Amino acid sequence: MKRIGIFTSGGDSPGMNACIRAAVRTTLAFDMEPFGIMHGYEGMINDQIMPLDAGSVSNIIQYGGTVLKTARSKDFRTPEGREKAAQNLKKHKIDGLVCIGGNGSYTGAMLFEQEHGIPSIGCPGTIDNDLAGTDFTIGFDTAVNTAMEAIDRIRDTAESHDRVFFIEVMGRDSGYIGMYAGLSGGAEGILIPEKGKQFEAVLARHDQRLRKKQFSIFVVSEGDEEGNAFELARRFSLKYPECDARVTVLGHIQRGGKPTAADRILASRLGAHAVKALVEGKRNAAVGVINDEIVFTPFEQAIQGKKTMNENLWVLNEMICR
Ligand code: F6P
Repeated sequence: MKRIGIFTSGGDSPGMNACIRAAVRTTLAFDMEPFGIMHGYEGMINDQIMPLDAGSVSNIIQYGGTVLKTARSKDFRTPEGREKAAQNLKKHKIDGLVCIGGNGSYTGAMLFEQEHGIPSIGCPGTIDNDLAGTDFTIGFDTAVNTAMEAIDRIRDTAESHDRVFFIEVMGRDSGYIGMYAGLSGGAEGILIPEKGKQFEAVLARHDQRLRKKQFSIFVVSEGDEEGNAFELARRFSLKYPECDARVTVLGHIQRGGKPTAADRILASRLGAHAVKALVEGKRNAAVGVINDEIVFTPFEQAIQGKKTMNENLWVLNEMICR
């Protein structure tokens, strides 16, 4: 293996730059040539491929987003798109790929290897923490800290005005951000898809709480099966018309910003081990960290495997949120 192509794909997440940096510098440490592919699979198709050196990734570890840019490519989902991408990679003599992204990105890498034999190792880059094969994904810790800080700030207003806030966090179909942000932010109620219908239980707790305090913070995952924050606030207001209920959707604020130390370290480890794995002949797998050990999971399993919520955290929160 002589030339490694590195790209980010799908939604950006804080720490992707640290991962790119580690992958580039590890490639150089193995006396190979790193190439950057811009805009994920789109750049592979459109030949936006360029050589990188150690200096190209200087001074990026502290930034969110991705210097290689990213996209959700429709064309790469077609065999014609993948054919074009393969031709471009062959033109640049790239013989291995480091794919930093989520589920969709892994699926693309898996198909690509099957059709064109170009090996990839995936690094889990998504704030959602919804990928099997790793305890945490790159960007999750930063997103949780951002959401927690937002909850702290909203709490000031909630308490001062005796208001009830429904704060919606990201996570697509996964409640990880909701669980961690809610627990660390001391939320009075957490609504996540993994726990099914919880709204009535949350309301019952609010009832008890009303006797002591007038304000509450409810954290709602965007994928919650009972509805989004607006829908739940509407239902809440029907039951408690006397309460001043407000909604805050944190949205893409959670995707940006300076990565935390935990994300930078995780991303550096994963980026370096992805390159090392390609050198050792591994392919078609995602690298992850489980119980502080580097592990590899075949793409198929990483994509299909459903990450379960840590039940202990849920039980803990049920006991201490009052
Ligand atoms: O996968 C990351 C994520 O931020 C999800 O939490 C969210 O549902 C989705 O991406 C939003 O995607 P986009 O930025 O393309 O609207």
